Amino acid sequence: MTASELIVTKKLTKQYPIGGNFFTALREVDLCIDQCEFTGIVGPSGSGKTTLLNIIGALDAPTNGNAKVLGSEIGKMNHVEAAKLRNQYLGFIFQTYNLLPVYNVFENVEFPLLLQHIESSKRVDMVNKALEWVGLSEKAKSKPAQLSGGESQRVAIARAIVKQPKIVLADEPTANLDAQNSHHILKTMVTLNEELGTTFVFSTHDEKVISYLRRKIKLSDGEIVDDTIVN
Ligand SMILES: Nc1ncnc2c1ncn2[C@@H]1O[C@H](COP(=O)(O)OP(=O)(O)O)[C@@H](O)[C@H]1O
Ligand SMILES: [Mg+2]
Repeated sequence: MTASELIVTKKLTKQYPIGGNFFTALREVDLCIDQCEFTGIVGPSGSGKTTLLNIIGALDAPTNGNAKVLGSEIGKMNHVEAAKLRNQYLGFIFQTYNLLPVYNVFENVEFPLLLQHIESSKRVDMVNKALEWVGLSEKAKSKPAQLSGGESQRVAIARAIVKQPKIVLADEPTANLDAQNSHHILKTMVTLNEELGTTFVFSTHDEKVISYLRRKIKLSDGEIVDDTIVN
């Protein structure tokens, strides 16, 4: 593993127990993702995209083989180590936003910084900057229920990038957005990738997202069937 290799999987296999048997969601996946990539895991529903992102994001562990993220082996971490990796280095954008309904936009974006015990005045600066990135400064005091789908997803993006993580994992981030909002969000992500060097890994089957990717890793039934660099 070289310094620029942020994510490396070797024969990564994930099986889910179902009814006394096993379903293989990922089968011996070998993958290497470098710093500054803007990469998508593409493939139809059920092909294993979320399973792969969840393991890379230390939310789940492999059944066999291994996944190393920033040099740490996911399957060998305890819960505290996994949480530390997530808090310090990873930002996760979920398909369904996962915003905290009782908190306003500012507080939702601030949440990862509280986990890192960052001091108050610095937190305010970082949250304001993240809200500027996604164009939501005026909505800082709104509650999630008062936002459109596109605005909610932009809050989720701000929350994922507020600590300027090394890696952002985005699981079908445009699934609930219209075309205009999708393009706005993708352009924001491209800017972050170019200006901050943030590595992005998407899961998607949305052609709009695919048109922005610089690398497409195609999954089918839990196996990589194609891996293409796009110019
Ligand atoms: N917790 C689980 N238990 C059993 N099967 C699961 C579980 N999670 C996912 N699967 C199965 O694994 C396969 C891959 O799922 P997933 O990674 O969510 O695919 P995708 O994100 O590409 O739609 C699917 O067939 C799904 O039904
Ligand atoms: Mg999925």
